[in-house]
Amino acid sequence: MDTEAQKRAAAACALEFVRPGMRLGLGTGSTARQFVDLLAERVRGGLDIVAVPTSEATRVQAEKLGILLTTLDDTPELDLTVDGADEIAPDLTVIKGGGGALLREKIVATASARMVVVADESKWVSVLGGFPLPIEIVPFGAKATGRAIDAAVRAAGCSGPVVLRKGNDGKVFVTDGGHWILDAHLQRIVDPPALATRLAAVPGVVEHGLFIGLTQTAILAGSDGVRLVERPQS
Ligand code: A5P
Repeated sequence: MDTEAQKRAAAACALEFVRPGMRLGLGTGSTARQFVDLLAERVRGGLDIVAVPTSEATRVQAEKLGILLTTLDDTPELDLTVDGADEIAPDLTVIKGGGGALLREKIVATASARMVVVADESKWVSVLGGFPLPIEIVPFGAKATGRAIDAAVRAAGCSGPVVLRKGNDGKVFVTDGGHWILDAHLQRIVDPPALATRLAAVPGVVEHGLFIGLTQTAILAGSDGVRLVERPQS
């Protein structure tokens, strides 16, 4: 199986968690996109669900495919969110936000009774941090916020450059919420909860891409097939 086939296999497995009448959160990224495609096939076959998208890209895709959408204002409690991830640790703490949708993704995941992460095996790591950690900030005072983030990173026992994200056009990447993203290249995040606490305390930080205690199940697809990992009981 190539990587695309692995993503599709993981997405197909996540469909088994969907029941008629459910209120779903729809993730963002290439793996979540596969899930939305497969979900739409079921909807065309008569499956009755409503869904909240985590980005404008997912909203456009789902709308085109005929999935009935709602908002968290109308439907503030969701049954299940299916989303991708950039890195997944054995305790199912994940890094998200490679696609820039971390803020809505975290709000939607937090509103969901269950979050299932779908990914290919390359996302499974023993220690988080190889993938740069996205940190969403307000544009006002970005330089000062960046310096405060540097200090927070060091205080949490990490180090590495924190870089303003640019798009392929060389312009500053702007999120769906009108914010900017700083990517922290840390290599090893020794204590994710400590870093999360420090980052959340920085004025100007809107959200960061560490999702702690939100994922119940990871569905990982590799060349040998699909495996499910449940969050260890704490
Ligand atoms: C979007 O902001 C991200 O959190 C994605 O869910 C994450 O980057 C995974 O994307 P892929 O499935 O494309 O790897």
